[in-house]
Amino acid sequence: MDYNTIKISTKQAEKILFELFNIKGKASSLPGYVDFNFRMKVENNEGFILKISRPEENKKYLDFQQNLLQSIEASDEDLITPKVITDIHGNSISEITDEFGKKRFVRLLTWVSGRVWSSVNPQLEDFRFSLGEQCGILTKALQNFDHPEAHYKFEWDISQSLWTKEQLHLFSENKKEILSYHQEKFEAIQSTYSKLRKSVVHNDPNDNNIIVSADALNPRAEAAIDYGDALYTQTINDLAILCAYGAMGHNDSLDASLTLVKGYHSTFPLEEVELEHLYHAIAMRLVIIVTRAAMSKIEEPDNEYLWISEKPAWEVLEKWRQISPDFANYSFREACGFMPHTNEELFGQWASNHSFQLSELFPSINLNKVHSIDLSVSSTWMGHQEEYSDLEWFQFKIDQLQKEVPSKIIAGGYLEPRSVYTSSAYDRIGNHGRESRSIHLGIDYWLPSKTPVHSLLEGEVIVAINDAGDKEYGGLVILKHQTQVLNFYTLYGHLSVESATKNKVGDIIKKGSKIGELGNYPENGNWPPHLHFQVMLSLLDYKVDFPGVAYYSEISIWKSICPDPNLLFNSEPFQKKEDSSQKDLINYRNKHLGKSLSLQYKVPIEMVRGAGQYLMDSFGRKYLDTVNNVAHVGHENYNVVKAGQEQMALINTNSRYLHKNINALAKELLETLPPELNVLHFVNSGSEANELAIRMVKAITGEKDIIASEVGYHGNANMCIDISSYKFDGKGGKGAPEHTHIFPLPDALRGKYRGDHTGEDYAKEVQKQIENIHNKGRKVGGFIIEPIISCGGQIELPKGFLTKAYQMIRDAGGVCISDEVQTGCGRMGKTFWGFQLHDVVPDIVTIGKPLGNGHPIAAVACTQEVADKFANGMEYFNTFGGNPVSCAIATEVIRTVKRKKLQENALVVGEFLKSELKFLSKEFPIIGEVRGQGLFLGIELVDANLNPLAAQTDYLANRMKDHGILMSTDGPDHNVLKIKPPMVFTKENAEELIYYLRKVFAEDFMMILL
Ligand SMILES: Cc1ncc(COP(=O)(O)O)c(C=O)c1O
Repeated sequence: MDYNTIKISTKQAEKILFELFNIKGKASSLPGYVDFNFRMKVENNEGFILKISRPEENKKYLDFQQNLLQSIEASDEDLITPKVITDIHGNSISEITDEFGKKRFVRLLTWVSGRVWSSVNPQLEDFRFSLGEQCGILTKALQNFDHPEAHYKFEWDISQSLWTKEQLHLFSENKKEILSYHQEKFEAIQSTYSKLRKSVVHNDPNDNNIIVSADALNPRAEAAIDYGDALYTQTINDLAILCAYGAMGHNDSLDASLTLVKGYHSTFPLEEVELEHLYHAIAMRLVIIVTRAAMSKIEEPDNEYLWISEKPAWEVLEKWRQISPDFANYSFREACGFMPHTNEELFGQWASNHSFQLSELFPSINLNKVHSIDLSVSSTWMGHQEEYSDLEWFQFKIDQLQKEVPSKIIAGGYLEPRSVYTSSAYDRIGNHGRESRSIHLGIDYWLPSKTPVHSLLEGEVIVAINDAGDKEYGGLVILKHQTQVLNFYTLYGHLSVESATKNKVGDIIKKGSKIGELGNYPENGNWPPHLHFQVMLSLLDYKVDFPGVAYYSEISIWKSICPDPNLLFNSEPFQKKEDSSQKDLINYRNKHLGKSLSLQYKVPIEMVRGAGQYLMDSFGRKYLDTVNNVAHVGHENYNVVKAGQEQMALINTNSRYLHKNINALAKELLETLPPELNVLHFVNSGSEANELAIRMVKAITGEKDIIASEVGYHGNANMCIDISSYKFDGKGGKGAPEHTHIFPLPDALRGKYRGDHTGEDYAKEVQKQIENIHNKGRKVGGFIIEPIISCGGQIELPKGFLTKAYQMIRDAGGVCISDEVQTGCGRMGKTFWGFQLHDVVPDIVTIGKPLGNGHPIAAVACTQEVADKFANGMEYFNTFGGNPVSCAIATEVIRTVKRKKLQENALVVGEFLKSELKFLSKEFPIIGEVRGQGLFLGIELVDANLNPLAAQTDYLANRMKDHGILMSTDGPDHNVLKIKPPMVFTKENAEELIYYLRKVFAEDFMMILL
């Protein structure tokens, strides 16, 4: 009988519930593979699940299931499971006869409420650990349970999965290859797999059968439901099934399963031999899923539930095929706290009994001491990326160093995080955003080209090739060494192609014989000559080469597969780089640095290198920076760095001497300013610039009263704090001082006046403050505001506001200051300075952050009139302001903005990003407003009543960091994400940002009910 004929309606289900259990309930049908399942809602309790069998179901089997549930309930384990409800006659399995006269069995279980695992987004480590943990508890609870019906033939049992071989004809050639690969591997391990521990297992802990707590931030697996597939089989199968489903939807399937394994092992300790089989067991569950789905499409085309997992299962299977089973085993072992490679210790012992001389590797050099060099991400010896990319320069530095240490071989690099490999060629998108293969697995010996390399011990040639390509190995040889206790491999990279390929696979190289000679660039993969020497305890599935660098996230496994080559040598150990751990850095900081210094992110990052729009941490992880408008023309812009370095080598003095740099910088800046603003003073910071501006106001007007915006921030110096409502109205503040007059934040979304035409209203608020000053019998000194109020939450000034406000201030005899510390130097896109967006010319402009690209230089531009009045005889002296080094740097910054057309870039990329963000706000109503200009944008998160959502904003910034994107929050209510990246930010960067924002906005914690 086909599926539609035997189906049970909800009405029938309700009737059955009442007749058999005397319970009135409302039925809704649930998906089910074998049974017809109904959720029965009843008043005043969680309700039930009613399970009606297909006709002629085996009652004994159902009895097994009921016993199983009762047994778990009786166990001591802390587990939530559905409970068996007996019918009015006291039976745990009832019988009915359907309209075709067929016998059906009915069971009623308590409803376990909650959401299912598949609904959880995102599925982070802690949650995934809890899935493993719960599954392990369940396995434990079932250890002493058995039932005759638990031993049966079942196509969903991994141990019986080789039936799938008969169905290969259903698949295309490439799918067949994947399936038969796993089937053959599984068949090959039958003799050991069959001996693994066995017990009754759930056999279907899939993502619709695990109930999860409602907590959106820290969800936890709480219960397993649907025990319909339970049977007696290899115990490891339940974990394999959990992993098969747990790997779905993640970029890195293996990484996704590791936390599940960890969690499981924490409650049900796994045996090493079980872990050896786990990769194959996971694969075979996936093989069953896709094979069953292909068959069901033909058999029951109406029951879509039968192939819901087909697509994600194929996605995992395709990735799983690329993973070496050995690597998976080592990873599982590591997750469970075992030594990842079983021979790691043995190799250490063997090496300590057979130590070699370095001169055996390089007989022509005949040196046995090494000088360590630091090529790590944070190496100052490496210098700028542009420099070490210049091979001649790199070689020159090596040669210079060699002259300093003539009796040593320059070497190093084992487990060193290197930025050389952080180009996108070494990138992948893992489960936590972009990752670079940055950790070096061998030792590099920096010796001249043609240096012969000899074999330390006899070995068979396994690989001898030209691994051509930029930053590849070039000439490469891998030898296999067989010793009495273990086999291992040694790798020789960057040989000359000719000498490497002279060797033939299968050749035996005797101890002391020559393997090859060092190559030169470009044939050695484009490096200064050196030998990359690596030891491997296993070749995994690599046939023609082997990675020389690894992802940081996998390093504990790789270092076990590739032990330290220096263990082989009788030489002194390499000097360890003095690196403080992150914990040390935090502890010291907390103890000895100012208590009010804050640290960004819940887990702070140690940044050690910058490159354009990216920052790199000490492990070589690259972060896309969307926040740092200080690194205006890109982090560590080469020309800017060079300008500073070169000038620093010549002279750095104060501005009392003549120097062309100060004039050059003034000229560059004046070119960008309106002709009225034609005098400059150079200072060291934005605060100092505003401090000077206020001094000017006082000197010119003789008045002290300043009008400023609510939530404005103008710097950390005394006077600046006095005019910064962001500070004195915030935590630790004591409100506005007597001479500061604050008007409301001109916020058109949530401010005092809202909507499109608020310019006049807010200008009137400025007028009120003028009158307020007059009422106190004093006069206006000045008015300070940013063109877009950054700390206020990237608030754009309403149209017409600034023109009116300036007029009012000037009518009252005051001076107008535009604080361009955040907004200046082309960032606005349409204009070079923010005030130009409003068609006004201030009397004073303060310039800060971007001017030095990270170097402390700032400036105050003013009119001739202001400058003349300020020069009242008192000298303005500034020790550092306008020094030749700072001016060389700032001049290069402004020139770079002009030369690289970065203002235009801010306009094009900024407009693109803004329109994409607006598009996103249609998808996610939590985005209350997208605002800003050029590359100075803000996204405000609010609920339907415009209440600020600070927790969600903070969550989003932290989650974006997890994906390798730096974002930051601002605004008085901490509910605005500010976007103000280095101006070299590209459209591709904007697209990447949008991609991850869309992902995070869809996560449970962000999906608040609006
Ligand atoms: C608008 C504005 N003005 C002035 C300053 C003070 O600049 P600095 O930190 O360089 O002293 C800041 C700093 O964030 C700022 O945002």
